Amino acid sequence: KIILGILVSGRGSNLQSILDAIHAERLNAKIGVVISDNPEANALKRIAGFDIPGVCIERKNFTAKQDFEKAIADELNIHHVELVVLAGFMRILSPYFIQRCFGKIMNIHPSLLPAFPGLDAQQQALQYGAKVSGCTVHFIDQGIDTGPIILQEAVPVLEEDTVETLAERILHVEHILYPRAIGLYCDGRLCTENRRVRILQEVEGKGDD
Ligand code: GAR
Repeated sequence: KIILGILVSGRGSNLQSILDAIHAERLNAKIGVVISDNPEANALKRIAGFDIPGVCIERKNFTAKQDFEKAIADELNIHHVELVVLAGFMRILSPYFIQRCFGKIMNIHPSLLPAFPGLDAQQQALQYGAKVSGCTVHFIDQGIDTGPIILQEAVPVLEEDTVETLAERILHVEHILYPRAIGLYCDGRLCTENRRVRILQEVEGKGDD
């Protein structure tokens, strides 16, 4: 099983969808550690009662960003993490961190990238007057929300939408898409060539025994 390290900052509904997918055996992975940069994060409560270590590493306890990121990287190494999953982790990782884990960090973003990167993506979509938005799962590179795209799914933007109703519609597809993308990685089915991610066919006969 591929060992995941999940980075969170808040509510943790995407973490929950990953926990649920593992529990239902739709996702052949193991969560090695959940790391939060926020001690109040509801995400940490979601792993209570599971045999999963939860660690809080706060930015304010480090003078230099690099030391904060080194503490995260050390924790990931202690737990033998093979894939870093950003699940509502609201900090930008520096090139220092990204180089250490290059090609092994996934993120989910609530828009159809490259539209509406950065913060408040749902509000950006509404303000722009987009008629569709959605979500994107991608690998992290050194830009903000610019890395190779793994999966995307669209949802309509309705005239009566508020940020909350649009965010909720997008969140519903996030919870389906993220475990699926992580599963493709864990099954060795993602192949990145010249920044394009190819999804390899499922190996026939897998799981027959
Ligand atoms: C999700 O909508 C996720 O796409 C977004 O934050 C939310 C986290 O919710 N991420 C970003 O905007 C990253 N730039 P959750 O804590 O319930 O998973």
